[in-house]
Amino acid sequence: MLTTVLAPDALGLSTAAAHLRAGGIVGMPTETVYGLAAIADDPAAVLRVFEAKNRPLFDPLIVHLADAEQLGAYVALENWTVPARRTVQALAAWWPAPLTLVLPRRPEVPDLVTSGLPTVAVRVPAHPVARALITAAGAGLAAPSANRFGRISPTTAAAVVEELGDRVAYVLDGGPCTVGVESTVVRVCDDGSLDVLRPGGVPVEALAAVAPVHRGGPAAPDPSPTIAAPGQLPSHYAPRTPLTLVEGPIDGAAALPPRALAILVARGEAEPVVRRLRARGYRVVAACSLSAAGDPAEASRQLFAALRTLDHSGADDIVAEQWPDGTGLGFALRDRLARASRVG
Ligand code: TXA
Ligand code: MG
Repeated sequence: MLTTVLAPDALGLSTAAAHLRAGGIVGMPTETVYGLAAIADDPAAVLRVFEAKNRPLFDPLIVHLADAEQLGAYVALENWTVPARRTVQALAAWWPAPLTLVLPRRPEVPDLVTSGLPTVAVRVPAHPVARALITAAGAGLAAPSANRFGRISPTTAAAVVEELGDRVAYVLDGGPCTVGVESTVVRVCDDGSLDVLRPGGVPVEALAAVAPVHRGGPAAPDPSPTIAAPGQLPSHYAPRTPLTLVEGPIDGAAALPPRALAILVARGEAEPVVRRLRARGYRVVAACSLSAAGDPAEASRQLFAALRTLDHSGADDIVAEQWPDGTGLGFALRDRLARASRVG
């Protein structure tokens, strides 16, 4: 199949929406990463999403809504506890945002979307093209990141074509993603507190201002496939080239792999690091920096594109510096780099 990249204008949106309504799947820009969308109420279309990604059916999808008003179609809040509803109300006021809430589902939501769980994940994306597409489609859109399962998330339309080009007819081009890491996924508990299932674009510290937060996340990834956030598998976001993660400066590391290296510098310029490594006899064939200025927002924006570039460089090994600061967006950066470095 040849993929058509659609401009995000009236024609592009109506073409994509018509394809969705006919049961098709569409690459959709969001502020975090590109998604692979299907109408959430259409199980046959949702199955096409799983097939295109080679995604296991036990890993549930996020339903993307045009606004918080649409929540009631997918989520059953009416019989829930008062503290839980209060937390939902406070967090829904943050939308549109890179924040996904895991909430009690309505029975009508297809089991494929939720992997049969009693909950459904929902968010209102901040990208105007995503919301326009949801509105034009007339329903919530179930959309995982538009990459082959376990691979690097796409942050441009071109990256979606690279990942799924033979499997998706249309990709709406909304430009490069402005956040660059996926949404923060939190489960709202009966007592109104929050379980962080995946760190992401909304810092966990901000959530703590609204409700008590239990941090799960990268410290203790659960290796079993039947966990509360099944997508949180130890290996994810992975380049094909083996990636070694280093705490602290790369050129401070005792020994690096002896073969052709691609290096990812966390903060500061890459060039001086490359020079020092070459002076020590290493063969460096490619290098990127996440943020020369050391800005975590810039680093998040660059992360997946940088991993993709280094993966294409022909290097035998990628050596990446771990992001040194675990606060704010640094929590998500450290999580993604740790998972990109794991195998199996
Ligand atoms: O930013 C994002 O969230 C992007 C864009 C496209 O919106 N989407 C995304 O989707 O990252 P995906 O499928 O790659 O990740 C969804 C995560 C997975 O870890 C999944 O297990 C979790 O959300 N999830 C979905 N429904 C869940 C549920 N009912 N309970 C627990 N975790 C759930
Ligand atoms: Mg994903």
